[in-house]
Amino acid sequence: MPNETTYGPNNRRFANRLCSQKTIYTNFIVFVLICVVCAPVAYFLTSMLTDLLDWESLPSKSITDSTAICAKRVVGYFTFWGFFDLQPWQLNNLTHVIFIFVRIEKDLVVKTDQTYAETKIWDMKKAVSEAKQNGLKMMFAIGGYQADSEFRQITSLRASKETRTKFLNSIIAVIDHYEIDGIEISWMWPPYISRVPYLMLIRDIREHLEKHRIAKKRADDYVLSITAPRNISDLKSFYFNEILKYVDFVNVLTDEYQYSNKLIGPISPLLGNPELSLDATTKYLVCQTKRPSKFNLVVPLFGLFWTNATLNEAFPAPKLNAQGPYEMAWRLWKREPWSSYSVSWDEKSRLAFVWDSSSRMFATFENERSLREKSIYVRDKNLGGITMNSLDKDEEGTLGNAIKTVELCTDDELEDIKYKCDN
Ligand SMILES: *[C@@H]1O[C@H](CO)[C@@H](O)[C@H](O)[C@H]1NC(C)=O
Ligand SMILES: *[C@@H]1O[C@H](CO)[C@@H](O)[C@H](O)[C@H]1NC(C)=O
Ligand SMILES: *[C@@H]1O[C@H](CO)[C@@H](O)[C@H](O)[C@H]1NC(C)=O
Repeated sequence: MPNETTYGPNNRRFANRLCSQKTIYTNFIVFVLICVVCAPVAYFLTSMLTDLLDWESLPSKSITDSTAICAKRVVGYFTFWGFFDLQPWQLNNLTHVIFIFVRIEKDLVVKTDQTYAETKIWDMKKAVSEAKQNGLKMMFAIGGYQADSEFRQITSLRASKETRTKFLNSIIAVIDHYEIDGIEISWMWPPYISRVPYLMLIRDIREHLEKHRIAKKRADDYVLSITAPRNISDLKSFYFNEILKYVDFVNVLTDEYQYSNKLIGPISPLLGNPELSLDATTKYLVCQTKRPSKFNLVVPLFGLFWTNATLNEAFPAPKLNAQGPYEMAWRLWKREPWSSYSVSWDEKSRLAFVWDSSSRMFATFENERSLREKSIYVRDKNLGGITMNSLDKDEEGTLGNAIKTVELCTDDELEDIKYKCDN
């Protein structure tokens, strides 16, 4: 089963893409069986395609710091493996849209010449050009879940100067070719030992972008952002106070806390866990850096479910014999057979969930209420913004609208800190 590999999120996402086509089957068991069948197929396709395609990172976007006006960001990721094309209205009220992911090839250059991703990019550009959204920035995320080895090679002390220059130049070439506004570096989990090389990489990229901006006589700075993990111990690989000098913002991957293979539990708990929750992760980052405006919370526009689960009382609960997690689009909860389950609200994590003790299916997902609460949290904690993962999973715009109705701007100063940092 592919759903618990190191690269689980990708395989799982792909598995569900195939599976979700089958939801016309009203019988839940049939659906689950299909998923079980799909998973190995997806896994096979995944291993086959990963050499050709790049579908594994997370990007974000930002705007240039401005202390005078409200500079809150509302960002949408857009995946190349999703079902749905981006519609111009989905970009209303967004500040940045970020395509995920552009691959780093084996020869350590950034490339986008895979036919499928290429088409998605031009479709996306079309939507952006038709959107009546002033100042919307379009970005690409470079790297992704499976780019660890490439990033390690690029930042290695043994890497030649030519390798490094070739990589940097390939970023510029992609920016020019698609006329985009910036990039996100998506090295998901840089190892602790790479913290200096990682900082140097970000610094070099900013320097390269700035040189290019001057050469092109471009008025606006190119946007540079990075992806950061949700796990506090993983965040120690980042010299944030240095990195924040070079990046416009950081997309913190708080959209999925539960792909450990030991537990079933909330996908993106806002509260209720002193180590693994959005509140814990952002408190750590803000208290470390004193720069709340630099951090965007990434929120999932999807849910996770497990079958054959055992849930006695609260969750997270031990995984035991449960199978999953499988990713599931939120809209499916409005369809049979899913719509016949009663949806509960978890006070602790502030998320919707379903526990069906007869079929032993457990699901955890965002809904309009949970996303509104997360948006209000972003406002009340004076964070930089909110990032949706991803627009193609919310093709009716219901979840996106729940986020967009929350006014993020306040009278707070840009870097007012809303956490008690001394405990
Ligand atoms: C979203 O955009 C529309 C028009 O572009 C505007 O009227 C509305 O006030 C915006 N909503 C928010 C919450 O900013
Ligand atoms: C967080 O990271 C540490 C160190 O890498 C690891 O031991 C731990 O299992 C991680 N926790 C989660 C929930 O991913
Ligand atoms: C489901 O769980 C039970 C125990 O709770 C276990 O005996 C059984 O093997 C599991 N089934 C599958 C398909 O994993």
